[in-house]
Amino acid sequence: MSATVLVQLGDLFAPIRAPILRPKAPSVLNTRLAPSPSARRPGILAGMDITEVILHQHAEQRRMFTMLEEWPRDDEDGLDALWKRLEILLEVHAEAEERFFYPELVKLGEGAGDADSVEEEVEDAIKDHNEIREAIRSVRRCKAGSEKWWEAVVEANVANSDHMAEEERQDLTDFRQQTTLALRHGIAVQFLRFEAEHWATGVDPVDKEPEEFVGDNEPS
Ligand SMILES: [Fe+2]
Ligand SMILES: [Fe+2]
Repeated sequence: MSATVLVQLGDLFAPIRAPILRPKAPSVLNTRLAPSPSARRPGILAGMDITEVILHQHAEQRRMFTMLEEWPRDDEDGLDALWKRLEILLEVHAEAEERFFYPELVKLGEGAGDADSVEEEVEDAIKDHNEIREAIRSVRRCKAGSEKWWEAVVEANVANSDHMAEEERQDLTDFRQQTTLALRHGIAVQFLRFEAEHWATGVDPVDKEPEEFVGDNEPS
């Protein structure tokens, strides 16, 4: 075997010198905002961003409506139990958005997607939440599995689907564009904490007046 071939074989067994990949620092789009105290701790920024948390819960809401549609129609107790779980998910989610997400969007948003302004985005969202609450009340008034109950469930699905599409297209986009990852992480922590405290029992649904909500949360 020639010396050249031996050298080439030796290269095959040489340690692989792959470039060392280091995680990039989180991109901070808006340096006006100070990160929350919890978000200043190293190593906790990845993956828990309020816009991702909301998107993930929307997927769960869609999945639960699909489960209802495929459920045995004569299992009224099962349908009732499944609906109650979905109802808690919808109401706790909307209330948490109104407590932790929308007040910050009113202050920092500029309007995204097909929204003319942040005021329009948020007023629409609060109005939608009221409509979803009303649709939930309608389902509750009917006997699970009855024709009227299914009509009310479909209406709730339509109201919720329309709202989620607009919220994702306008509000979540606006928030991603105008805020830091650190702030989004801090809000996700508050949001998830509130939800964890209320998952078992739900919350009392409380309608809000859209213009008043925006006015109360605008920067002074
Ligand atoms: Fe939502
Ligand atoms: Fe919402």
